[in-house]
Amino acid sequence: MLPPWFLYTAVTVVLVLAGTALFFFTLTRGALILRGAMGAAGDDAAHVYPIYSNMRLIKLIDFQPIIAAILLFQYDRLVSAITHGLRDMDLQGKKVLITSCAFGNVIPRVVKAAAESGASRVLIADIILNELTHAKSKLPAFAGKVEYLEENATAMRLPDGSVNANVIFFLLHELPHPLKGVALSEACRVLAPGGKLYLAEFHRPDPWVLRALSWTYFKVFEPLGLALWDTHDPVKQLEAMEGFTCERRTVFFGNFQVIVATRAPAA
Ligand SMILES: C[S@@+](CC[C@H](N)C(=O)[O-])C[C@H]1O[C@@H](n2cnc3c(N)ncnc32)[C@H](O)[C@@H]1O
Repeated sequence: MLPPWFLYTAVTVVLVLAGTALFFFTLTRGALILRGAMGAAGDDAAHVYPIYSNMRLIKLIDFQPIIAAILLFQYDRLVSAITHGLRDMDLQGKKVLITSCAFGNVIPRVVKAAAESGASRVLIADIILNELTHAKSKLPAFAGKVEYLEENATAMRLPDGSVNANVIFFLLHELPHPLKGVALSEACRVLAPGGKLYLAEFHRPDPWVLRALSWTYFKVFEPLGLALWDTHDPVKQLEAMEGFTCERRTVFFGNFQVIVATRAPAA
């Protein structure tokens, strides 16, 4: 016979997990299903979850331990892979772009790494103004160095070859399939010769147990993400573009990937 405290604890844990799952479902995929049903799916930002557009929700959820847990405590490792790459580049007097904001400390860490490598300017682009306002609140130390651009990653207004590094952190899996490739070609178009695109994303895990859990997560919460495993593998899409070479590093049993795509230097 199980002791009552064990049963109370088990029931509480199950209720908290179920409540958290329901909360996130409602504010992510659930909201998109509702939007579609109400015929509001035509907008450029129709695929963006309310947790990225409503300022109260942004502030409620943007708490480092929650964000780290969502990425299975690999967040720090993934960000470090990008910041180490930026620190190894000579960005003296050059521009760095962050295409789309993200929760946690990725933006301050990327901006700091870019500034330490000599970048003269960091541009942060996002389709949602509230996200840019929120990002700005994390960067008081870099006022004057950072520019905030309300931009669609799939139709950037920046000129060709205008930045030397471009960082995209977990955006692709949230974009409708046809827009994944468009966002990648825009990310490459704005890169100067010799420039680098840093892309952190989900990847198909190696062990079948993790793959099954991950597949279930995507089916329930983020069905647009599964295509990154095969039909919309970013490396295949980037290698199909002329003048780019790619390196892929996977972490945590293959569950995540950091891709570095380098544009060939000018001849
Ligand atoms: C990078 S993604 C997800 C980040 C990740 N889940 C996290 O926070 O750790 C979320 C951001 O992408 C932005 N976004 C979504 N679609 C976009 C688009 N087409 N162009 C620019 N930004 C976009 C959203 O507004 C939001 O700020």
